[in-house]
Amino acid sequence: PDSIRLAVVAGDGIGTEVVEQGLRVLDAALAGTDVTVQTTEFDLGARRWHATGETLSDADLASIREHDAILLGAIGDPSVPSGVLERGLLLKLRFSLDHYVNLRPSKLYQGVRSPLADPGEIDFVVVREGTEGPYTGNGGALRVGTPHEVATEVSVNTAFGIERVVRNAFERAQARPRKHLTLVHKHNVLVHAGHLWRRTVEAVNAEFPDVTTDYLHVDAATIFLTTKPSRFDVIVTDNLFGDIITDQAAAIIGGIGLAASANINPDREADGSFVAPSMFEPVHGSAPDIAGQGKADPTATVASVALLLDHLGFGEQSRAVEAAVAADLAERGDRVRSTAEVGGDLAARVAG
Ligand code: IPM
Ligand code: MN
Repeated sequence: PDSIRLAVVAGDGIGTEVVEQGLRVLDAALAGTDVTVQTTEFDLGARRWHATGETLSDADLASIREHDAILLGAIGDPSVPSGVLERGLLLKLRFSLDHYVNLRPSKLYQGVRSPLADPGEIDFVVVREGTEGPYTGNGGALRVGTPHEVATEVSVNTAFGIERVVRNAFERAQARPRKHLTLVHKHNVLVHAGHLWRRTVEAVNAEFPDVTTDYLHVDAATIFLTTKPSRFDVIVTDNLFGDIITDQAAAIIGGIGLAASANINPDREADGSFVAPSMFEPVHGSAPDIAGQGKADPTATVASVALLLDHLGFGEQSRAVEAAVAADLAERGDRVRSTAEVGGDLAARVAG
């Protein structure tokens, strides 16, 4: 395309600060091309909810659909009851746009100190299912507030939903040098969903004969993420397990300030265009404690911009952004820099 229509949801807290730098790097990355970025800013998050009671209206959603991609900063504020913005905005976007591939790469860059004493090489991606599992909101409560209160959160797992994300994970494993896929679940306890996942991986493996697979229960996976993260290449897992292990995965590569993510709907129309815009966001939250101080690290957002470029077919520009992140981290050492300094340096490196 000659222009990328980008929906910008800066959101709450440090979201605005990091998104500003992400956009700066995106512009720098495309400077050498004839592609321009057309941004539409969406006023969504705590401010909007306080002002109007809305989280994400049908009109917002319809308008967001008219874009090629979404760049999101962070959603959430202590002044809003827990769950309101998470369910009503962030998860509503993921579910409405059918972002079934929640992609979360973990790479320990040179120059970054891992909290692990002996991290070895860390370079894996988690393909977290994004539209099912315990996140569907399928549950309820009985006898609320009584000693006999009952609360259920039912995990929804469909053959269709599992198969499409598993196939995507195999495609990613196939494209990587080690070609290895690990299924993470808990089929010794969650036997219905667990065995559906296991059978699906086995079946789809037939289409990808050169990809090797193994299986770990989620509890064991957390041990290996600490003791031997180098054993992982691609991990595929359900929505909730994926949420939990990707925070651990962020911690071992130097912290959540570096962890990028993409909520992808890879499906295309007959004309080759995507059926819906995918959404790119740092894994971290709105960090109200440091908001407005210019000290949030925009690296995770910039690394998410690299994922955005790759998704839209700008492979070269995506690699340039990733290389800038790697070079910056290698040189940064323990120096503390402001949000704008890091963004400026990254933009300068990308522009070359
Ligand atoms: C994440 C977050 C979200 C999730 C919350 C804020 C709904 O923790 O992106 O990992 O659980 O997916
Ligand atoms: Mn999370």
